[in-house]
Amino acid sequence: MINPLRGMKDLTFEEARRFEYIVATSSQIARRYGYRYIETPILEETALFKRSVGESSDIVGKEMYQFEDKGGNDVCMRPEGTAGVVRAFISAKLDRQQGKHKFFYYGPMFRYERPQKGRLRQFHQFGCESFGEESVYEDFTLIQMLTQIFDALGIGYTLQINSLGCPTCMPDYRTQLVGFLEGVKGHLCEDCNRRITTNPIRTLDCKNESCQHHLSAAPRITENLCESCQSDFETLQRLLDEAGIAYEVDSNLVRGLDYYSKTAFEFVSDAIGAQSAIAGGGRYDRLVEFLDGKPTPAIGFALGIERIMELVQMPKAPREGYYMGAMTPEALSSILRLAARKRLSDTVTIEYASKGFKSHMKGADKAHARYAVLIGENELKDGTIWIKDMEKNTEETRRVEDGDF
Ligand code: HAM
Repeated sequence: MINPLRGMKDLTFEEARRFEYIVATSSQIARRYGYRYIETPILEETALFKRSVGESSDIVGKEMYQFEDKGGNDVCMRPEGTAGVVRAFISAKLDRQQGKHKFFYYGPMFRYERPQKGRLRQFHQFGCESFGEESVYEDFTLIQMLTQIFDALGIGYTLQINSLGCPTCMPDYRTQLVGFLEGVKGHLCEDCNRRITTNPIRTLDCKNESCQHHLSAAPRITENLCESCQSDFETLQRLLDEAGIAYEVDSNLVRGLDYYSKTAFEFVSDAIGAQSAIAGGGRYDRLVEFLDGKPTPAIGFALGIERIMELVQMPKAPREGYYMGAMTPEALSSILRLAARKRLSDTVTIEYASKGFKSHMKGADKAHARYAVLIGENELKDGTIWIKDMEKNTEETRRVEDGDF
């Protein structure tokens, strides 16, 4: 028997229903905020992710599904969605229009991580990317949209926010931080030591307890922001306060992708174990330019569908559509004709075997159909059908007219 690869899984029945529901609910809310659907390829040039997510990030450094294709190109299965959407935005020359463009997407992402609860090698994200809006009001609106999505899905969360500064304040902060790290590097783990030169900010979210202890006195980015970053960060907090959206400021929240500046945020849940991040995002005002587009401010987020599947409160599935069956073999042709007609507007399940009444009723119940439609000898003779409303528990005989009832 061939099984799925480690860290990859099938979504069947109830799981597939949850998946569809999360995507449908999130898409519907994103559309209300002006986002439109975009689809980009799963396979991209490796250089795209190296340049956007960052060479020093774990995702690019350790976790990429990277290979040479038959034409000798260095390609990669996307580890996240933002880079591809930004590339598509530039490919479509939207960066030259100076307008505002908002896109949502969902689909599989691939990271060669060590599989564990909440961490898959193929997982799915729903994400939104907003281009062309530099106002911090957009940061607020995006976060508000996410809270609306989680509320609609019946999910509790904690929102953590940070500001990662901009090219005005980040370099100074970085220098200060590196100075501090050099002083404690003897106490830090191997990864942190490597990051002092490659990506010092990432040391701040090291999960190693001893590192955390020695980093507690590190300079904080939130205390070293330039005037504009400081003012935007304060405005964001005021807007969240005014909207009654609870949040925590976490100056160690640095995110695992290198393209962020200014606002960064994560939504976490304490109900799904160690892999608690259910969504994350932030501003990436320099990424479009970095990928050779015209400078365009941008912000986005992605939520992890599998993690949310564990938390979502599903509405009870209503009975839906028709179950149709014949009680005599001669009636099956009529059933097929009626089903084809009904399927122009409704869901129909057909039982091909002619059966007795009780057996058909069981079938209709199992199919979770709203209506059971049966044709027996009498109905066939009279040009009628017998129909039962499975919810209201009412039944009647109806005449077939113009091929419908
Ligand atoms: P990210 O934080 O790497 O951000 O991923 C977003 C979400 O995907 C996480 O919060 C988590 O729920 C889910 N996720 C990540 N890795 C796994 C995994 N191995 N197994 C299951 N779920 C996982 C991004 O990907 C950015 N592109 C978000 C963004 C969009 N920023 C701006 N725009």
